[in-house]
Amino acid sequence: MKLKGKTVIITGSTMGIGKAIAYRLGMEGANIVINGRNAETLSATADYFMNQGFEVTAFQGDVTNPESCSALVKLALERYGRIDILINNVGVGARGFVENTNPEVFRYIINSNVLGAVYPTLEAMPQIKLNKGSVIFISSLAGFRGIPNSAPYCMSKMALTSFAESLKVETADAGIHVGIVYVGMTKNGPDKKVLNADGSWIKLQQHDSIFVDSPEDTAHAVLEAIKHRSFKTIVGIKGKLYYWLQMLAPWFVEYTFRRRMSTIMEAQK
Ligand SMILES: NC(=O)c1ccc[n+]([C@@H]2O[C@H](COP(=O)([O-])OP(=O)(O)OC[C@H]3O[C@@H](n4cnc5c(N)ncnc54)[C@H](OP(=O)(O)O)[C@@H]3O)[C@@H](O)[C@H]2O)c1
Repeated sequence: MKLKGKTVIITGSTMGIGKAIAYRLGMEGANIVINGRNAETLSATADYFMNQGFEVTAFQGDVTNPESCSALVKLALERYGRIDILINNVGVGARGFVENTNPEVFRYIINSNVLGAVYPTLEAMPQIKLNKGSVIFISSLAGFRGIPNSAPYCMSKMALTSFAESLKVETADAGIHVGIVYVGMTKNGPDKKVLNADGSWIKLQQHDSIFVDSPEDTAHAVLEAIKHRSFKTIVGIKGKLYYWLQMLAPWFVEYTFRRRMSTIMEAQK
């Protein structure tokens, strides 16, 4: 499948994985629509792509607002006359144990990570149907099983799996490709923040170890998922190992998480 001339909307694409996906698909010749809420970061990202040799359309807006999603789709259509692919990439992380978590954190995460994927999908689907295109969801290994210290996030990513499964069956006859990409721990940008249990934002440390993939790995996996119209993609060898370990020896995964929980509790003392 050639991406040249096709229009791709990528939500939450002013940094991190979304930006890497925008770059990868832009280099394939697709018309790219990037998105984020912060105007300055959005404009700087559009300039970045211009310097890389291709122009993108930038849409400032919040995907948790259905009207904003409608405007996003409208802009893409006005600019390029068609929409072929939607990549639901917006996703916010959360830290903290359930009993300490402010209910507002649950609301924010479900709103961003679940409804923030549902609304753009509803708006873009008629156009994607016309072109027999793709709807992709960016999920996480946290979508395979609940892990400690991150319950709202795990819930949100699991919800994406069921939404994608329903959508896949419902749209199969219409020729829409639905894909979900499970991403492991990925090197983050310097400005990445996650929600703390009390509702405050914490800057995430740049993790860099052999267990960490690059945003480009995910961008490559997304490109392959689109080209092969695959439903389920697990990024990287480590991600696949984790998936199989969870399938074959869930008790072992639970044991390692219980040990990890003690370490977290110790660090919080
Ligand atoms: N990084 C990892 O280790 C990792 C691992 C597994 C899965 N993932 C998944 O991969 C995806 C991308 O993660 P990331 O780490 O690259 O994210 P990130 O660096 O935090 O970037 C988030 C992007 O989304 C935008 N955004 C956030 N909320 C938004 C909203 N309501 N409406 C519109 N834009 C919004 C942000 O810009 P503004 O703030 O300006 O809006 C930014 O462009 C997420 O779905 C995440 O769950 C990441």
